[in-house]
Amino acid sequence: MTDKPWGGVFREATDRRVELFTESISFDRRLAEQDIAGSKAHARMLAEAGLITADECRQITQGLDEIGREIAEGRFPFRVEWEDIHMHVERALIDRIGDVGRKLHTARSRNDQVATDFRLWVRDAIDALLASLRRLQTAFVGRCDRDWDCILPGYTHLQRAQPVSAAHYWLAYCEKFERDRERLSDCRKRVNLCPLGSAALAGTSLPVDRDSTARALGFAAPTANSLDSVSDRDFAAEFLFCLSLIAVHLSHWAEEWILWSTCEFNFLRLPQGFCTGSSIMPQKINPDVLELIRGRTARVIGSLQQMLVLLKGLPLAYNRDLQEDKPPVFDAFDTVHSCLELAAPLVAQTEINRPAVEERLDRGYLDATTLMEYLILQGVPQRSAHEAVGRLVRAAMDRNCRLIDLPLAVFQEVVPSLDESVREVLGPDKAVRRMRSFGSTAPEQVRRQIDAWKQRLESDRT
Ligand code: ARG
Repeated sequence: MTDKPWGGVFREATDRRVELFTESISFDRRLAEQDIAGSKAHARMLAEAGLITADECRQITQGLDEIGREIAEGRFPFRVEWEDIHMHVERALIDRIGDVGRKLHTARSRNDQVATDFRLWVRDAIDALLASLRRLQTAFVGRCDRDWDCILPGYTHLQRAQPVSAAHYWLAYCEKFERDRERLSDCRKRVNLCPLGSAALAGTSLPVDRDSTARALGFAAPTANSLDSVSDRDFAAEFLFCLSLIAVHLSHWAEEWILWSTCEFNFLRLPQGFCTGSSIMPQKINPDVLELIRGRTARVIGSLQQMLVLLKGLPLAYNRDLQEDKPPVFDAFDTVHSCLELAAPLVAQTEINRPAVEERLDRGYLDATTLMEYLILQGVPQRSAHEAVGRLVRAAMDRNCRLIDLPLAVFQEVVPSLDESVREVLGPDKAVRRMRSFGSTAPEQVRRQIDAWKQRLESDRT
């Protein structure tokens, strides 16, 4: 009555509306390459186990390769009636090589098959992201020499706080993206296990060799429990978390640069190739790429949420709900990957508006903390030094001048032991240069970090 591979027990054909409702080929065709690789490894193992002959294995492999080429070249006919990528490939194989093709699904279920395909796909996606993150880090490190002598106001509460070198700023982003890389690499370890051979949920009574398929597909080992293997999507949730945090880092950078490129800040000149205009206001040059990077973060976080909610109510083992696991992963990956690919050239091509930044450095008493620390070195207790500098800042505010411009008499009124040499620690440049702690914005510290980054980027060409 029905020509579905699972149709033996059915007396009635599938309602067309159900076919349209249950299909996944519209999105899981993205797993085609992985599905074919998995099937080839499976066929080889079946031959090793004596479940098919060497000649049958050869015919299957050849047929699968041809189907793979057809799909890659866009010549393959996808049909909703064939439901998903697994049935498409198997069906096409049977059409091509006849009854031998009917042996491929031996000791296999779509449940372990889809879990395997998806893991293979996520593994490739992780590798692509590791490379994109490297490119972005390279762009930031590439700026460090260019901006070496540039000092920026550093902020807390978005209020001017202390001066920092631009290179220190750029390397802060490198650290964040490095943690993203580490998280992805760690996630990859749990992705890289092979569910194939777990069959529907209980394993199989046929003499399969799960180590062989795992090895052939480059997995570290087979998964340990068949029930867990077909139901586990932790790897997908973890991957989405990794993507979400990358997106959050990108968004946070984008927000900063949107702000810095406003007339109000005027710190940055974005490359015009990365901006767009307004259809009504002729003067506008808008930072749309940065805004969309910030905006698309919402989709990625949404995808993580979607996955967690999808999984929370599922009993063991496979449930069809799990078919819904792929769209959020594909979408989040595409989103983050394209954001990273745009972020790298944007970072490389943006210019700092040095005169505007320098003018700003003189306002906001960015050297007040350095002056306080200078007093501490003179033996003044921290709390007293803090209060004294607070009074000096107030005096400078009243005169509408910088700390360095205060007459010596004012300094001495507050701290009698001070002399003219106090001016040697004032000014944003001095504030940066007087830093000494590990990880600070001190030039020697930043230089060492830049060198370490260059070495790391050089030695790890992912
Ligand atoms: N298209 C399905 C999915 O993505 C494949 C597994 C279907 N398994 C089943 N027993 N219906 O989850």
